[in-house]
Amino acid sequence: MAADKQPVVITIDGPSGAGKGTISRIIAKKLGFYYLDSGALYRLLGLSAKRHNVSITSENGLSALAEHMDINFITGDNGQFKTVLEGEDVSRELRTEETGLLASQVAQFPAVRGALLNRQRMFARTPGLVADGRDMGTEVFPAAELKIYLTASAEERASRRYKELIAKGEDVSLPALVEQVRSRDESDMSRDASPLRPAEGAIEIDTSDMSIQDVTDTLLNILAVKGFKLSSQVTN
Ligand code: C5P
Repeated sequence: MAADKQPVVITIDGPSGAGKGTISRIIAKKLGFYYLDSGALYRLLGLSAKRHNVSITSENGLSALAEHMDINFITGDNGQFKTVLEGEDVSRELRTEETGLLASQVAQFPAVRGALLNRQRMFARTPGLVADGRDMGTEVFPAAELKIYLTASAEERASRRYKELIAKGEDVSLPALVEQVRSRDESDMSRDASPLRPAEGAIEIDTSDMSIQDVTDTLLNILAVKGFKLSSQVTN
């Protein structure tokens, strides 16, 4: 029997709010690939630590939790993604700024990152995977076929988040969001363990002045040049 073909991996890294999640999902759908939202794993770990009273400063406690966390990513009949922690749908709580901050605290620890490494690599399945995060191209999938680094100014990323939250009826301040974006960048880029930086060979795209459609078109062009075949089949 012929050996199974290795799944193709495309990595999309960058700071929070650069549009990675939206774009990665669109590209995964167009290619018929699986999708990994690696930030969700760190967010789930932050939530799980809070629920189980594991200290956010305990590297050992957090890494044990990371290995055994009972999590599930589900697509409902309506096509909506659901994230489930120990049987409970935590999709909303997962996306709050507070959970984002918890995630970036737990993400500082090398043992936590090590514990999540295999869980992330297991998402690579045939025909392929689009992996979104901070260290997808540098650490988790260093041999990826295509590496993208999406970025945008802190002001633009905060303003996108502001519009999203206002549309949800939340009471937020733009200057406070700019501050949060800057402080998360600072902790993600300056930490010792897998700091955020473009992988070697990554194609960098500054999305500050681009719409989602512009970024999608740019990526589809890159995929076409690299010989990727677009598919109508949808997986997640
Ligand atoms: O992408 P998202 O905003 O959901 O990520 C939340 C936090 O998780 C990031 O600010 C970062 O600290 C951490 N993270 C990481 N490595 C990844 C993905 C996320 O350290 N691959």
